Amino acid sequence: MAMSTRCAIARSKMSLTKCFILLSYFICQLYAVQRDNFKTCEQSSFCKRQRAYQPAQSPYVALEDSLKITSNTIDIQLLNKDNNVRFLLTIFGLQDNMFRIKMNELSPIKERYEIPVGDALKEEPAQQKINFAGKDKDKFVIKMSNHKLLLSLSPFRIDAYTDETPVMSLNSQGLLKFEQMRIKPEAKPPADDSADENGEEANPQEAVENQEEKVKEEKKEDETGMWEETFKTFTDSKPHGPSSIGIDVSFPGFENVYGIPEHADTMALKTTKSTDPYRLFNLDVFEYDLYNPMALYGAVPLMYAHNEDRTVGIFWHNAAETWIDISSNTADKSVFSHIADFVKGNNEIPQTDTHWFSESGVIDVFLLLGPTPRDVFKQYSRLTGTTQLPPLYSLAYHQCRWNYNDQDDVKAVDANFDKFDIPFDVIWLDIEHTDGKKYFTWAHDKFPTPEEMIKNLSVKGRKLVTIVDPHLKREDGYSVYTDARDRGFLIKNKDGNDYEGWCWPGSSSWPDFTNPVVREWWADKFALSEYKGSTPDLIVWNDMNEPSVFNGPEITFHKDVKHYNNFENRDLHNIYGMYVHQATMEGLVKRSGGKERSFVLTRAFFAGSQRYSAVWTGDNIGEWSHLKVSIPMVLSLNLAGITFSGADVGGFFKNPDPELLTRWYQTGAFYPFFRAHAHLDTRRREPYLLPEENIKIVREALRLRYSLLPYYYTLFYQAEEDGLPIFRPLWVDYPKDKDVFKIDDQFLIGSSLLVKPVTDQGQTNVNVYFPGKDNVWYDIDTYQTYDGSMTINVPAPLDKIPVYQKGGSIIARKLRPRRSSSLMYQDPFTLIVCLDKQGKAEGELYVDDYHSFQYKNGDYIHRQFIFNKNTLSSKNIDPKGQFNTREWIEKIIIVGFPNEPKKITIANSSGENSRILGFQYNENNKSLTIRKPGDNIADIWTLVIV
Ligand code: NOJ
Repeated sequence: MAMSTRCAIARSKMSLTKCFILLSYFICQLYAVQRDNFKTCEQSSFCKRQRAYQPAQSPYVALEDSLKITSNTIDIQLLNKDNNVRFLLTIFGLQDNMFRIKMNELSPIKERYEIPVGDALKEEPAQQKINFAGKDKDKFVIKMSNHKLLLSLSPFRIDAYTDETPVMSLNSQGLLKFEQMRIKPEAKPPADDSADENGEEANPQEAVENQEEKVKEEKKEDETGMWEETFKTFTDSKPHGPSSIGIDVSFPGFENVYGIPEHADTMALKTTKSTDPYRLFNLDVFEYDLYNPMALYGAVPLMYAHNEDRTVGIFWHNAAETWIDISSNTADKSVFSHIADFVKGNNEIPQTDTHWFSESGVIDVFLLLGPTPRDVFKQYSRLTGTTQLPPLYSLAYHQCRWNYNDQDDVKAVDANFDKFDIPFDVIWLDIEHTDGKKYFTWAHDKFPTPEEMIKNLSVKGRKLVTIVDPHLKREDGYSVYTDARDRGFLIKNKDGNDYEGWCWPGSSSWPDFTNPVVREWWADKFALSEYKGSTPDLIVWNDMNEPSVFNGPEITFHKDVKHYNNFENRDLHNIYGMYVHQATMEGLVKRSGGKERSFVLTRAFFAGSQRYSAVWTGDNIGEWSHLKVSIPMVLSLNLAGITFSGADVGGFFKNPDPELLTRWYQTGAFYPFFRAHAHLDTRRREPYLLPEENIKIVREALRLRYSLLPYYYTLFYQAEEDGLPIFRPLWVDYPKDKDVFKIDDQFLIGSSLLVKPVTDQGQTNVNVYFPGKDNVWYDIDTYQTYDGSMTINVPAPLDKIPVYQKGGSIIARKLRPRRSSSLMYQDPFTLIVCLDKQGKAEGELYVDDYHSFQYKNGDYIHRQFIFNKNTLSSKNIDPKGQFNTREWIEKIIIVGFPNEPKKITIANSSGENSRILGFQYNENNKSLTIRKPGDNIADIWTLVIV
């Protein structure tokens, strides 16, 4: 719909000013990011204060006399000598090689926000015994297995060691700065806050004087913005004054750090010496700029440091606006000092220093001590959980557009996919499907019989997504809104009235999803009896949940809006969006009586979001640069536990030409979440509208994805347990190969597939780095081999995706082309066995009903296939799982097989029922195709080649 039409519609119902707000949002959406809508560090007073803080020596000292030791924890008080404020520091030993370090004011005048356990942290982390080993000079020594912490008393700092190697330090740069809550100098203390710890009335006059004394001390620092802050036309009332916290975390011995999504940047994080710090503050930034540290839609305050010897990480458990500065003694060197080093020889140990600061909350840092990449992922997943196995359809292809206009349109798209023989599983309806942007309703003129529409999709195993945003149109006849209003569930502004802001429907309010009761209320809205026109095959997309407020500061909530328990949005902004999609997912699962796995897509996210939803990277642009950056973005999300993620294929804005769209499908076919989407003002671009040659290529890319669904499904099953990235940087599997530490234009899917998509216009050749000294990699189309530890320039014409299977791996695929993934449920498998240089290979396959939670009750099959000494056997690696299926093995292709065999037989585990199998050997590419081994995937068998 053209902008003018939209505004005409809007105008009929709203004032000119309000129409102007919507109009400006649309205008912005048509051009590049409006940088000045978003704060720089200079424009954020706490960022400026924290960044500028560089004391000669840290004023924080640990008070020896206050030490309290229990078997798993150590408490010690810290004193800020500059203003005599005291803090309590607690160190926890945690299972799986982690420490937790928490610091709060000893007696804050107002409770500081802490994220409730069960939200970002999936549960209270299991503690581990630590051993207080006394004092060594000015340092306490705290041991836990082969790790130790040295706690220096004056100035306070903590150094973490593993096997006597320093791996992390806190406050070694002296940047700890914890702004105590204080009373505004001119304000009288509130009457009911005047009782002291013993319940005795304190003298209010004295309290004010004490506070004033402290404030005087602080006068040395710049007070601008401490009690009120204005950005553009927005004033933040800051009723509780300054409350920021910050500390430095150094990684001695590490040159590369990763993580802290979401930024449109390289995977290996850059130093911020000449830029702003990386910012974590969930914001609606459409058409975002690339390769800069600006905040985007989601935030995971998790960083990993990696070198050839180890991987460590820190998780900053804080949901307030956060900035992270990064510097490095190697990366920050000038060209001149590099030359000098070259001449003199450089023995300097690399070190990356980071500086974390948040606007409020407490310091709550988890030290993840690795030491391997797999260990750190496991450690983080022990804290915040993993993605539960998604239903199979959600791993298939999703077709989205803002908007499919009406039921006929949906029907036509569905039919065209079939006509052109292109598979797809899910069609998406954007905001225009609703009655006036009132979610849970339908625009009845366009969608008169939604249930029927969904049923027409269901017969082909397809699903429908509807968008459900968290803003509620403030209209008396809209029951979701009036219900929330009447129950007092809406977020309040600073004066205690329902907060009002602008979003798609015009004047809107937002439920307070931080309140668990509100989440339950929201979840119930998805019951089939409540959400009229929905069926079990309708699933949901939560958008704009940062939240996006068109007329709010930085297009989001005012920071002083009030949430549950009287906390401000300032305290918890980054987790609000997660509560929205958590409640949605809980509703969808509840709708099926807890039986069916479901699917939700979210734009905003936080640590823990992976437990509930898939994530996409928001409003990108149909340009080559956005295709390219989507790879590091999805890699960073995967590193941070958000494995189920992807970018809009084709780019949301603008009109990609056929070449770009084709290349994007070839890349997107490997994103764990694979969806094409397009803005309202773009030309239609469903894949069947492409020129014939491109349709063919895109169809092949989609078929490749569908054929790999068993592999993706198995990886997701494994990742539910170990939290490993699915879309994986090379350093995760090749941690000792320095050459891969910064590679973010190629990636692994699991361990067995290496992908190097073409992301440049007109490119018909690419350089591929094949990792692993002793590895051999096989082109999945030709079986041509490539040796590891080499960069090779390979041809990549438009119809070629450079994808390689690792020698030594076995991948189960389903090669029969189908219209949707559910039509593949009973299809047979083909095992692709790629031999390593020793003639060995192994792989796994996980199978269940592909949609329900019955796998939690043991209804599954988990097999391992092992090829060794010309024998391929199937092994049951989890005897707890049992499942009846008709899926069987249709074909086995052994690649890298040296010569034509004489005979191939297959027998069951006890050697009975031996049968001779037909085969074909291809001398040119050394592949052996074994026809119809025929065994059910649940059987245990051994195949022998002689
Ligand atoms: C913003 C989302 O990022 C985009 O994907 C969606 O199409 C529009 N909102 C309209 O709902």
